[in-house]
Amino acid sequence: MKAIVYHEYGSPDVLKLEDVQKPTPADNQLLIKVYAVSINRSDWEGLTGKPLYARTGGLLKPRDKILGSDIAGVVEAVGKDVRLFKPGDEVFGLMMNYGGGFSEYVCKSEKALALKPAGMTFEEAAAIPQAAFIALQGIREKGHVQAGQKVLINGAGGGAGTFAIQLAKLAGAEVTGVDNTEKLDLMKSLGADHVIDYTREDFTKNGQQYDLILDVIAYRSVFAYQRALKPNGNYFVAGGSVFTMFQILLLGPWIRRTTSKNIRVLMVQTDSKDLVYITELIEARKLVTVIDKRYSFSETPEALRYLGEGHAKGKVVITVRSENKI
Ligand SMILES: NC(=O)c1ccc[n+]([C@@H]2O[C@H](COP(=O)([O-])OP(=O)(O)OC[C@H]3O[C@@H](n4cnc5c(N)ncnc54)[C@H](OP(=O)(O)O)[C@@H]3O)[C@@H](O)[C@H]2O)c1
Repeated sequence: MKAIVYHEYGSPDVLKLEDVQKPTPADNQLLIKVYAVSINRSDWEGLTGKPLYARTGGLLKPRDKILGSDIAGVVEAVGKDVRLFKPGDEVFGLMMNYGGGFSEYVCKSEKALALKPAGMTFEEAAAIPQAAFIALQGIREKGHVQAGQKVLINGAGGGAGTFAIQLAKLAGAEVTGVDNTEKLDLMKSLGADHVIDYTREDFTKNGQQYDLILDVIAYRSVFAYQRALKPNGNYFVAGGSVFTMFQILLLGPWIRRTTSKNIRVLMVQTDSKDLVYITELIEARKLVTVIDKRYSFSETPEALRYLGEGHAKGKVVITVRSENKI
């Protein structure tokens, strides 16, 4: 089968379309024929090896040679212990450890996998998993956002952020989205009550305080986030610099003890129930998936470059096979 492979950390130029062995499912796995895969910042981080936490699979060279965490496709075969899915099912989900999806076939367990609704395209389904998991946990499951609360989402014009704005609005919050100049209109169109251009204004220095800050891209000192939180407020970071993440891991418990402010790293849990919940909201037209651009499989390097250079509004999706070739 064909896959987009890389053997060293670097720019999108190190990605090559290669012939690799088609995987065989273990007893607890499904073999899925991939139709679409979406790009996440975690793919960019895995490609470039930055921040350093992206190198947990290999300090000098990537151990897993195929990136791509969010897939949608058709089940081709199932291992003997698979209970929930059968060959022919249209499914979508998250590849555990966030890799392997830039290929024509993947093997994965039933965890973090759900049936794709018939009315949803493979591209729409592939745009959901990782971004939706982060948004749902940050806003709803850990954030417990209530009507009337002030919520700020940093990085709100990207994959997780575009879902997070909508989920916070559904909960009745007053939402501020932070992202670059190109993404301000998108954030407003998704319901953000206020938008901040991070290239012009630092949200931790404008005197405002929030009940919840969901940060998908944290680079500041932990004390800056503490300043921007109301008493009893929650701050959750999903990604960002290693320095900031370490600071939060080290000083977060102390800040929690000495103030009423809860500052934590968000460890995202992946449960198929969350995928079902999100698709129900999409089918009920309460939530939209924002797909900025679609690329063909061989254009995967360009798709990553587009995200890495800071242009992606919402999600970028790759069509691995077109639907009429089923
Ligand atoms: N904690 C966990 O368990 C877990 C699990 C999965 C993923 N993650 C992490 O969560 C993050 C998810 O991000 P995503 O997929 O939503 O990324 P994304 O689609 O790239 O969105 C990030 C957004 O932040 C913007 N941004 C860049 N620098 C910024 C700044 N200084 N201030 C405010 N906004 C800024 C980006 O805009 P530009 O275009 O200007 O760059 C982009 O629109 C990744 O870091 C990933 O590794 C964490």
